[in-house]
Amino acid sequence: MGVGTLNQTKIPPQELPRYGAERLSGIRCISTQLKAETPKESTLTAMVIQRLDALVVLNVTESGFERRGGGATGYVKETYLAHLIPTAESGVQELDDRVRALDSTLSWSLSPAISLDILTKQDFLDLVEGLEAEFRREFVAQQVDADQDRVLIVGLMTDGITKERFEDGLAEIGRLVQTAGGEVLQTMQQKRSRPHPQTVVGAGKVQEIALTVQTVGANLVVFDRDLSPAQIRNLESETGVRVVDRTEVILDIFAQRAQSRAGKLQVELAQLEYMLPRLTGRGQAMSRLGGGIGTRGPGETKLETERRAIQRRITRLQQEVNQLQAHRSRMRQRRQKQEVPTIAVVGYTNAGKSTLLNTLTNAEVYTADQLFATLDPTTRRLPIPDAVTGEPISILLTDTVGFIHELPPPLVDSFRATLEEVTEADALLHVVDLSHPAWQSHIRSVMSILSEMPVTPGPILVAFNKIDQVDGDTLVLAQEEFPQGVFISASQRLGLETLRQKLAQLVHYALA
Ligand code: GTP
Repeated sequence: MGVGTLNQTKIPPQELPRYGAERLSGIRCISTQLKAETPKESTLTAMVIQRLDALVVLNVTESGFERRGGGATGYVKETYLAHLIPTAESGVQELDDRVRALDSTLSWSLSPAISLDILTKQDFLDLVEGLEAEFRREFVAQQVDADQDRVLIVGLMTDGITKERFEDGLAEIGRLVQTAGGEVLQTMQQKRSRPHPQTVVGAGKVQEIALTVQTVGANLVVFDRDLSPAQIRNLESETGVRVVDRTEVILDIFAQRAQSRAGKLQVELAQLEYMLPRLTGRGQAMSRLGGGIGTRGPGETKLETERRAIQRRITRLQQEVNQLQAHRSRMRQRRQKQEVPTIAVVGYTNAGKSTLLNTLTNAEVYTADQLFATLDPTTRRLPIPDAVTGEPISILLTDTVGFIHELPPPLVDSFRATLEEVTEADALLHVVDLSHPAWQSHIRSVMSILSEMPVTPGPILVAFNKIDQVDGDTLVLAQEEFPQGVFISASQRLGLETLRQKLAQLVHYALA
């Protein structure tokens, strides 16, 4: 029994007994109210979030109260019966029902005022079993690809960032989720001066997220930013599904794409390093709760053991990564001895670096219309004519991992082996997707990351790619801003001869 509105007394999703998109919660709720009115929307919303089997609202009239044997008995004036209905059913519920569609995807049904007599004739078991059978059918239909996460994206627009930048970030996290293999069902956003310390978004928005998770059948909520361990914990307990942040999505992509031993090691290292403070956070929260029964003991000990095991593994991985780096730098020295000029190909994710490398050198680098298609540095030899003599010479082109806005620090650290290719190259080829509306900001973010590298990179040639999909105005603008740039289409093989010549000049200039 609970006192308060249904919203105030609701059971947290993770404590619900039979929680799941295809099931109802197994809880039937009887609620009384003294005012003779139809149940409020917030009450029905609370029913949806908890996936109650059914909700019965009894309107008890105060005037009908009378004392009988010391206990107060109300007089039930009228009753309402509410329950969820499957999406496909909306609009075709029993004729005299008032059907409410929410976002036109999930609906509830609310009966008109009915007498207690009629209500008691309702076979609830029959009702619930019938509904669950329908939910199951719908659930199976949604699970065509069970491996695919069904994602609700949440973006927070804080003070100090422009609408454009915010929307870019939101679009980027959407592409990241798709690259990681998730399906974006819906995107929600909120404007706040700064993130809420406990839940990132405000309390009302959290409720809305929880409701939408139910409505669209999401199993994962992804935020467009990084979250603290406490924020993740709070949001997970409010929404009942897994909540991940931007870094986790990126790490997940790296984990799926890593091919070589070095790549795999680096990803695991990054994931463990990201996980460790989170584990610690959870542990600390538990210790703070401590003092109560059930909060001490094996749980905390196990976490402590896990923490130590993870720490040991991190140390070991770090050693292996260091060894691999030493090995690579030996290989690089050998390369320098041969005096083969090296050019690192850098650029924003999806700019077309791998495609360009393929086209130029016929290298088998994995390309796909996905972010981060490349993980390991792949070096290929490219014959070009010498800038002065015209004699054929060779240069080495190294593909690098794609840059993104605000590359999370743990990633910069763990992928430094990849990024080191950049600092040790003689020159850089910066590939820009000119067909992307935010190409200018992409250039800025790549340049800003490059400028943060410990070693200043050599000269940079900017190659504007995908000109097959660019309008004349943009082309003119880019030509004006970057008169030294070269304009190409890697996939359509446009401008590649000019590119080869400019690369030769670049190398000549870099080694002069
Ligand atoms: P990451 O590895 O994620 O950093 O990406 P990348 O820069 O290596 O890009 P990738 O070569 O994988 O190309 C990304 C997408 O752009 C692919 O779908 C390519 O087919 C496409 N693409 C590459 N070059 C061109 C081009 O000149 N024109 C057009 N229209 N599409 C291109």
